Amino acid sequence: MESENSLSRRSLLCGLAVLTLGLVPDKALAATGVKVLPDGKVEIRIASNRSLKKVGGVVQFRDGTGRSLALVRTSKAVKGFRAINLSCTHEGTKVGLSGDKWVCPEHRAEFAIDGSVQVGPAKTNLRSVPVKATKKRVIVG
Ligand code: FES
Repeated sequence: MESENSLSRRSLLCGLAVLTLGLVPDKALAATGVKVLPDGKVEIRIASNRSLKKVGGVVQFRDGTGRSLALVRTSKAVKGFRAINLSCTHEGTKVGLSGDKWVCPEHRAEFAIDGSVQVGPAKTNLRSVPVKATKKRVIVG
């Protein structure tokens, strides 16, 4: 009995540590309403992703081939979206969101939220992926 209580306490403390360290993904980035279509493209419903309703909002997801991608709202226009491949254009490490920019953990290259390179050693922008947007959804791929 005492070991069960100890285990529960330990589990609770571990959970709190994870929350404190920020290891739980930002809810704004949690992709819901995302569906991989039979052709490998990805359908993202805008109503299910509040972050996409404001300029600069981001949703991260994987496509049918396993690539890590992000959809970024670049303007308020219906077609104001850009999808980017999150593989760093220097040596391919996955970049991560840090504030309002993408940062590569390998050699610290930085990219603007729309994927434009800002700080080397990367010399080119994050690769764009085609998007087709309507008022309700965006198809990526
Ligand atoms: S792999 Fe990203 S900066 Fe080198």
